[in-house]
Amino acid sequence: MSIQWFPGHMNAAKKEAAEQMENTDLVIEVLDARLPEASCNPLVDQLRKFRQRPSLKILNKVDLADPVATAAWKAFYDAQDGVTAYPMTTKKPGDVARIPDICQSLAPHRGVPTKPLRIMIMGIPNVGKSTLMNALLKKRVAKVGDEPAVTKIQQKLYLGKHIVLVDTPGMLWPKIAMASDGLMLAASHAVGSNALIEEEVAEYLGNLLLERYPQLLTARYGFKTEGLDGISVIEHVAARRGFRVRGGEFDYEKAAHVLLQDYRTGALGRISLETPQSRAAALEQHAAEMAEKARIAEEKAALKAEEASRGKRGT
Ligand code: G4P
Repeated sequence: MSIQWFPGHMNAAKKEAAEQMENTDLVIEVLDARLPEASCNPLVDQLRKFRQRPSLKILNKVDLADPVATAAWKAFYDAQDGVTAYPMTTKKPGDVARIPDICQSLAPHRGVPTKPLRIMIMGIPNVGKSTLMNALLKKRVAKVGDEPAVTKIQQKLYLGKHIVLVDTPGMLWPKIAMASDGLMLAASHAVGSNALIEEEVAEYLGNLLLERYPQLLTARYGFKTEGLDGISVIEHVAARRGFRVRGGEFDYEKAAHVLLQDYRTGALGRISLETPQSRAAALEQHAAEMAEKARIAEEKAALKAEEASRGKRGT
């Protein structure tokens, strides 16, 4: 199974973002602190680097993320050229209130009456863009990015006296490169998933929790985790909660859903699905898999060419 999502209107949003970048002084990219790289859009960096714009990467939902992983991600992003990371939660008004000052410090040459500081806010679905904008603007603005060509903010929106939010397509999302990104995004509700996929996503989450946060599973559901795998985590949740279908079989669907909900709401505890280290390992593995695929394809092509030439020679 691989979760892919690249709706046609993303091309329009990409074009619009590229155009708007010219009139933007600073890009705010909202990421999910629990999965910052899986929830980022490489296109945002491509576009802003082309125009040499600084970037504020908001690691949102830190209230749900593992603080140790969040600190590692902050260091990871702060080390990048032109990038500053700000771990925060929209749940804390104080966190939101600091944003205009941070933006101002990242673009000190702007923010005066003749040269307002122009900001673009972007991010994939469900990272908290709308919540953030509403909190920043202290009013409700349109839901960001769930309609084709999206968030047509018509009027000028001021975040501060001379800080203005430029009309933004808000959301961009190219193809998910690695299957694990799709699973992390589905687990975090950034992509929808049907019941069938939900079981697979819950299995992935179960395995990850066993590896990194087994104590949280025990604390929440009261079972020991030794010797378990992802599927048996779901089974144990079903057993503990008494989820059974007719005939007495475990109700995997319901248990998978509960496990995912407990992660999403933070009921399981503060969990990060990736760290800079795990990301590097995943990228390395992905590159090795791609190289192996390319090698096999090359071998097949060579074999085919040889067969074809043999056929011609009649040998
Ligand atoms: P979007 O515009 O980027 O698509 O995201 P939106 O603001 O709609 O937020 C998506 C969900 O994330 C909302 O929950 C919102 O309340 C929640 N959220 C936003 N910021 C934070 C945060 O800092 N911490 C926590 N814990 N939650 C945050 P929802 O409507 O209940 O959606 P769902 O989570 O059930 O999908």
